[in-house]
Amino acid sequence: MNHTHKLTDVATLRSQARQHIEAGAVTAGYNANRDQVVKLLNEALATEIVCVLRYRRHHFMARGIHGQSVGAEFLIHSNEEQGHADLLAARIVQLGGEPDFSPDSLSQRSHAEYVAGDTLTQMIQENLVAERIAIDSYRDMILYLGDQDPTTSVLLKQILAVEEEHADELADLLEGMKG
Ligand SMILES: [Fe+2]
Ligand SMILES: [Fe+2]
Repeated sequence: MNHTHKLTDVATLRSQARQHIEAGAVTAGYNANRDQVVKLLNEALATEIVCVLRYRRHHFMARGIHGQSVGAEFLIHSNEEQGHADLLAARIVQLGGEPDFSPDSLSQRSHAEYVAGDTLTQMIQENLVAERIAIDSYRDMILYLGDQDPTTSVLLKQILAVEEEHADELADLLEGMKG
């Protein structure tokens, strides 16, 4: 328990909640820099969308003896990245921001790159690199937020855990390609 944090009295809670009600979930107790958080979430959104597209292409282009099984995994990852994109977009709106789905600037705003990839091994490698970028950038954002916005932090931690699973699976697939 943090004994340096003073609990707000009920009368203050009630009167604060009545002010700026149009801001919805963003209340007087919101401590983070909202514009900065929305900006970070939009960068994460762009990253997720690029990952959806890259995995999608790799799913359809996966060939060779391992093509079917690896390609099926790419489709699962693609759909999970889409799920992350949706969660991020919903949180952006909750914070009073606008999710940026503009395709023109997508690849510049994304942290991870879109690499088409020629061989199955190259595809796995590129996806693994992208996951590792996502892992470090989510971890960065979580540390940056600290305890300023617990809801966004929980969301980012949930997504981070899935990206770590993805990276782990891809490392296994890469190992399997050698055998
Ligand atoms: Fe993701
Ligand atoms: Fe991922």
